[in-house]
Amino acid sequence: MTATERLADMLRLPANTAVLIHDPSNIFYLTDGFGGEGLLYLTAERNIIVTDFRYVEAAEKAAPGFEIARTEHDHSWEKWLAELCEQDGIHEIRYESNYLSVDDFEKLREALGEEISFVPLRKAPQTLRQIKTPAEIVTMRKAAAITSEAFETVLGKIRVGMTETELRLELENIMYRLGAEALAFDTIIASGENGSLPHAVPGGRKLRRGDMITMDFGARVGGYCSDMTRTVALGEPSPEMRKVYNTVLRAQSLCEAALAPGKNCYDIDRLARDYIDSQGYAGRFGHGLGHCVGIDIHENPRLSPSCHNTLKAGMVITVEPGIYIPELGGVRIENTCLIKENGSEPLTTARKELVVL
Ligand code: GLY
Ligand code: MN
Ligand code: MN
Repeated sequence: MTATERLADMLRLPANTAVLIHDPSNIFYLTDGFGGEGLLYLTAERNIIVTDFRYVEAAEKAAPGFEIARTEHDHSWEKWLAELCEQDGIHEIRYESNYLSVDDFEKLREALGEEISFVPLRKAPQTLRQIKTPAEIVTMRKAAAITSEAFETVLGKIRVGMTETELRLELENIMYRLGAEALAFDTIIASGENGSLPHAVPGGRKLRRGDMITMDFGARVGGYCSDMTRTVALGEPSPEMRKVYNTVLRAQSLCEAALAPGKNCYDIDRLARDYIDSQGYAGRFGHGLGHCVGIDIHENPRLSPSCHNTLKAGMVITVEPGIYIPELGGVRIENTCLIKENGSEPLTTARKELVVL
């Protein structure tokens, strides 16, 4: 089944109903690769990409099974939709209430008239996206392999006196050379005391002997993201930071080993939190344990105190505990893992034991 067929099946799409997709990640998924601007109009009978001159050729190549409606300066997307709905006798629209702006929603309602009812899609495409197909898993393995290899390669470049920004450039350069088509997100480099900031922005701080350095980075390949974090030591770390490292490593490994279909996300998160608290670091791990990854870097479900979903085979999820101590620093270790029928497999294969440079 194609992705649009899976969606129609999931929605049990009635006749005279059209689905509108504006979220670029859902467009990419449902067209199996169209990454330009535009929107989708889907019914049980036809699939249409509404886009403009800049993306027509790309849309034809990426999604040969779709018709294309080309917008012009005097033929807007909402005018196209009004015409398509009229042609197809549409009286119900399913739309992305979580994505469409209030302005665009109003434009749409005005263009389509009072007779058409609007029903939220309730993230149905995102729900489909939670379970990766074998082809998606092949792509995500490639993205993860690039980050694992980039980590090993960048270790040889880390020097006392280089800035966080210089290290970031090295790492990103390596990922591109290894085949990344883009970065999955802004690279995080946090050295020394900056390590207490979970989402530190790399800056001009120079690396010093005795620093711990956290690198959180990801590559995008074939439209899919990888996500990994390693903290390394530049010279022998203090006994205190070594204890922090060992605690995070144990929490990460415990939770990774616990991943399996049927497990509750809350329980996996709890495992890390309880262990970290028990080692004397209560309150030092303030973010969720992990998140699913795919076309978007952060997808649902999450491993977090507020997520009670159940893991299923085919999900790809991160396990990323951390400990953050202001003025001292921090440690985070993150693998991206595939949930399998009998447990899980880390797609991130880089070593996790402390590297002392
Ligand atoms: N890089 C962001 C995260 O790990 O979620
Ligand atoms: Mn990350
Ligand atoms: Mn992550």
